[in-house]
Amino acid sequence: MLSNIIAICNQKGGVGKTTTAINLAAALSAVGKKILIIDLDPQGNASTGLGVEYSNRKKSIYEALAKSIPFDESIQQTQLENLYIVPSNVELSGIESELANDKDKAFILKSLLNNSTTIKTFDYIFIDCPPALSLLTVMAMTAANSVLVPLQCEFFALEGLSQLIKTVDRVQKNLNPELSIDGIILTMFDKRNKLSTQVAVDVKKHLQEKVFDTMIPRNVRVSEAPSFGMPVVIYDRKSKGSQAYLKLANEIIKKNDNREAA
Ligand SMILES: Nc1ncnc2c1ncn2[C@@H]1O[C@H](COP(=O)(O)OP(=O)(O)O)[C@@H](O)[C@H]1O
Ligand SMILES: [Mg+2]
Repeated sequence: MLSNIIAICNQKGGVGKTTTAINLAAALSAVGKKILIIDLDPQGNASTGLGVEYSNRKKSIYEALAKSIPFDESIQQTQLENLYIVPSNVELSGIESELANDKDKAFILKSLLNNSTTIKTFDYIFIDCPPALSLLTVMAMTAANSVLVPLQCEFFALEGLSQLIKTVDRVQKNLNPELSIDGIILTMFDKRNKLSTQVAVDVKKHLQEKVFDTMIPRNVRVSEAPSFGMPVVIYDRKSKGSQAYLKLANEIIKKNDNREAA
């Protein structure tokens, strides 16, 4: 079986990409799935949120993309048994200009994954993208089978989404025919806030089965966890935020089982 490679994308910052990457990965690893997170954001928030020290970020996705180390050497285990990460460091912010003249630049990550010997041992691979529809995000979409879009329940959410969908369509047409959006996860949902509820209703009306049933509530425990270098599903398993990510993990496993059965 080929691994499931999921790019977590939204060109807006602060919508819950990294939080979703970390917690979905931790929730899936807790039920015995072997998971890899590729931190593709120069800010390295996923690396920090999973407790990777700065001194342990020298073999990062940057070195792998720049071909100064083999991709498999950039993979390291986190504190969690089934959860591995390729960390990022700030040098990654220079990769786009370094690769400016490489005509195959969109395919670099894909070919690293194709040529990796350990990649096939992972059940799911999550790519945490930077907040831009830049080369790094296009690389992630070219390497992935599906795009997971965290959407914050606020007024401008849908506006950004149409641009994102256009980018996915373009990558699907020109670079990666396998790619689809699967799906949209509503984040930071606040049921006491009318606008939050209205956005959720609108998104579900427009995008229907693309939207996961599970919504991630706004929950302070979710925002506290990264400063302890832990996913919230470990930091406070009983919190509302944790319970939602555990539910989302089940939804993803079910979707995947259905797809494999079909
Ligand atoms: N469900 C949530 N409840 C409360 N705070 C959240 C939640 N999801 C994310 N956050 C916080 O919002 C900020 C942005 O989230 P993050 O996942 O880093 O977004 P992105 O990766 O899209 O930039 C972070 O400080 C994070 O801790
Ligand atoms: Mg992020």
